[in-house]
Amino acid sequence: MLGTTNVYESDLAVDQYLLFHYGTAEDQLPYSFGPREALFYPIRCVSDFLPAIGMAERALDLGCAVGRSTFELTRWAPDVLGIDLSHRFIAAANRVRETGRIEIRRLEEGELITQLTRELPPDIRREDCRFEIGDATNVPTDIGRFDVVLASNLIDRVKAPRALLESFTGLVNPGGHLILSSPYTWMEEFTPKSAWLGGRYRSAGHPALTVDGIRETLFGAFDLRFTKELPFLIREHARKFQWSVAQATVWQRK
Ligand SMILES: C[S@@+](CC[C@H](N)C(=O)[O-])C[C@H]1O[C@@H](n2cnc3c(N)ncnc32)[C@H](O)[C@@H]1O
Repeated sequence: MLGTTNVYESDLAVDQYLLFHYGTAEDQLPYSFGPREALFYPIRCVSDFLPAIGMAERALDLGCAVGRSTFELTRWAPDVLGIDLSHRFIAAANRVRETGRIEIRRLEEGELITQLTRELPPDIRREDCRFEIGDATNVPTDIGRFDVVLASNLIDRVKAPRALLESFTGLVNPGGHLILSSPYTWMEEFTPKSAWLGGRYRSAGHPALTVDGIRETLFGAFDLRFTKELPFLIREHARKFQWSVAQATVWQRK
């Protein structure tokens, strides 16, 4: 059904995302071969860009899932908010915030599970962030503005991506930054085709790319500072992985 987030409320999704966000390299990819540069995507969404952006006062991670990027943002801002629609993801993120510990059920094959316990790096200031259940396309009006807004792998998971992009004008402080990252995996299960930002033909032989749809939407209020290809790897089980390449675009509010 269009717009449901059930997929992100399942045990499978919680287990998969806890491993994706908090597993070590060996936990995620226990082979001597494979795309190691695709590991630690939720960390890289922050560490690849914040050194160029610099310290901030307030940061927002929209579609934060189980929270790794939110925690990483506390290295750069003393007030960080992570918002996600999934109750299960936010409950998991809050458990990490409270304990600094992550209990991961890693699927091996069939119904075989390995239980892993991992720790959040001790230099992360857990107390500087909080997590809330919420809709990124309808944030509370009193949420205020932020110096950094991150939306990773979110724009192709909402019903109205253009409205989401337009809302960033009111969410990012003048001079502040918006980090968008997405593999542009458009699916009608999440986004009606008429709302896709790209990945369609404007007319016969004239393809519209998502990056151009983003540029057209953000153009008046933001300058594009840089783009970067960000590979990521999500382990499904010991012998099956999703390897994707997100495109990150970093925008500065005029
Ligand atoms: C593909 S996951 C990406 C999660 C995380 N940013 C990452 O890169 O690992 C998409 C996330 O967006 C969340 N989500 C989907 N629609 C949302 C909405 N309207 N508001 C807030 N979160 C949403 C899902 O619950 C899920 O956690």
